[in-house]
Amino acid sequence: MPNVVVVGAQWGDEAKGKVVDYLAERADAVVRYGGGSNAGHTVTAGGEVFKLHLVPSGILHAGVTCVISAGVVVDPSILVREIRDLTMRGVAVSNLRVSGQAHVILPYHRLIDGLEERSRRRSAIGTTGQGIGPAYADKAARRGLRMGEFVDDGRRADAMRVRLEAANELLTKLYGHEPLDIPAIITEYDAYAKELSAFVCDTAPLVAAAARGPKGVVFEGAQGTMLDLDTGTYPYVTSSHPVAGAACVGTGVGPCSIDSVVGVAKCYTTRVGAGAFPTELTDSIGDHIRERGREYGTTTGRPRRCGWLDTVVLRYSAMHNGLRTLMLGHLDVLSGLDTVRIATKYRMGGLETDDLPYDLAAREDVRPVYEELAGWSEDITSVSSFDELPEPCRAYVARVEELIGIPVWAVSVGPGREQMIRLPGRRIVT
Ligand code: IMP
Repeated sequence: MPNVVVVGAQWGDEAKGKVVDYLAERADAVVRYGGGSNAGHTVTAGGEVFKLHLVPSGILHAGVTCVISAGVVVDPSILVREIRDLTMRGVAVSNLRVSGQAHVILPYHRLIDGLEERSRRRSAIGTTGQGIGPAYADKAARRGLRMGEFVDDGRRADAMRVRLEAANELLTKLYGHEPLDIPAIITEYDAYAKELSAFVCDTAPLVAAAARGPKGVVFEGAQGTMLDLDTGTYPYVTSSHPVAGAACVGTGVGPCSIDSVVGVAKCYTTRVGAGAFPTELTDSIGDHIRERGREYGTTTGRPRRCGWLDTVVLRYSAMHNGLRTLMLGHLDVLSGLDTVRIATKYRMGGLETDDLPYDLAAREDVRPVYEELAGWSEDITSVSSFDELPEPCRAYVARVEELIGIPVWAVSVGPGREQMIRLPGRRIVT
């Protein structure tokens, strides 16, 4: 198997876990390269539903090394809980490895995330409240705590104390908040560190070796292109780089080791939190999509904003990620609509454009230009080959391919592993 990056082509929640799970079966390693417990990857296998936040989706395959690499921010309390849950359900975690260079989320990161959101008032981002932004801010300011130091019994207490004391200054003086109980936190995190120390190592040589091997590596993106700190709708973005290029930062491989990039998109669009969303639907069709698609956050339970497929976004995503092919998911959710729409262009200031404006978040004059196609009414959830899909559904997929200029490799008709359907003749490496 080649080395493949799986990346969200929209605003996250595209069901990347399903593609990673499929590819993991043939891979040596699955590497999570960014984000933290803001992500929620749902994998349905053997009728069981697994909701993962930090552990890579490949964990359900015995023998696959699962790596949390340097670009991830790790909340030890959440990772410990996830490891315990998986173990209790009979999933072996002995192949999990965590980079000593990954940064640690401490309780004040969460607290500051919430306090900053409150202070933004009407321009709040709608973060997941997991402390992601403050943890990446500490990393960039070169005052973060890394997993290697965290699991070192000789260094942990002092390293945590220094950071917690600085955080207490900020909390009490800037936000008028109660100070954190430093000794209690150090004791609590001592237990996490002891549980996690067996998993922490230098992961880069493992990934590099797997990438040179016959089976290859799957790089698992979290969130989506439009939430990328640079590429997304800043400032309504996350604080990491979900784009494919980030798979080559701190993981152990460079760009020449990547053989293909697979984008994952839903056949409609969703977004959680605030920020631009040109094709958003606030009517009964939006409700249809939300209810049929179970569009509620895996991490926060928040209802997701829903809208029509936006191929301006997908073309932008194809460019920024170098997408070679696409998995177009959730086709079953659009069943039952007389007609379906695809945004093909934007109209802005009286002009039409094929391209996404770099300052989308700041513009109020962007209107999607839609094309209307025939819908399909059949229940397609048990269809197992592309040719059996209703003709309007196949025509929809073909039109999406035409509009974004890259081939669709697979579609999905439900959450199960077996509900992902490959298109005849389509390949991951093109
Ligand atoms: P943060 O990553 O918690 O700081 O949140 C920043 C923005 O990214 C908010 O709009 C969140 O709703 C969004 N976000 C973060 N993680 C995810 C995800 O996994 N899926 C969808 N949206 C996300």
